[in-house]
Amino acid sequence: MNTEEKIDEAIRNPKNLGEMAEADAIGTAGSSDCGDMLRMWIKFRNEDGRRVIDKATFQSFGCQTAIAVASMATELIKGKTPAEALAMSNEDLSAPLGALPPMKIHCAQLVEGALKNALTGEVVAPKAVSPTLSDSFQAPKSVKIKFT
Ligand code: FES
Repeated sequence: MNTEEKIDEAIRNPKNLGEMAEADAIGTAGSSDCGDMLRMWIKFRNEDGRRVIDKATFQSFGCQTAIAVASMATELIKGKTPAEALAMSNEDLSAPLGALPPMKIHCAQLVEGALKNALTGEVVAPKAVSPTLSDSFQAPKSVKIKFT
């Protein structure tokens, strides 16, 4: 299966979708690039004296790729300590889907941002990947006019 097929498959059968009433931590991230938002809920448990992630759920407002990545990520972080989960990059969190196309990398960053916000309270906004069409129209251009 290629990345697109894996994303389609993950969207058809998303894991850990929905709010968690008894969550220990909640994190939210928004993308200024596309306006999408993602929220993650995390529940911890004690395992051999260590605090590890028991389960995580998510809600995504708008983006299919973010749903696919969050579905994978909430599975991947189970059993990890907060430090281990924080050490995971957006590439790690989306790895089961394969390499994302450049325009979809910020979708994985959105998931990473919600996870980091839940675990640290830090607000991590996805980096703008490219100017939007409206930005390109509004951006001032330096145009040299030559009078003859
Ligand atoms: Fe913006 Fe996916 S298109 S988060």
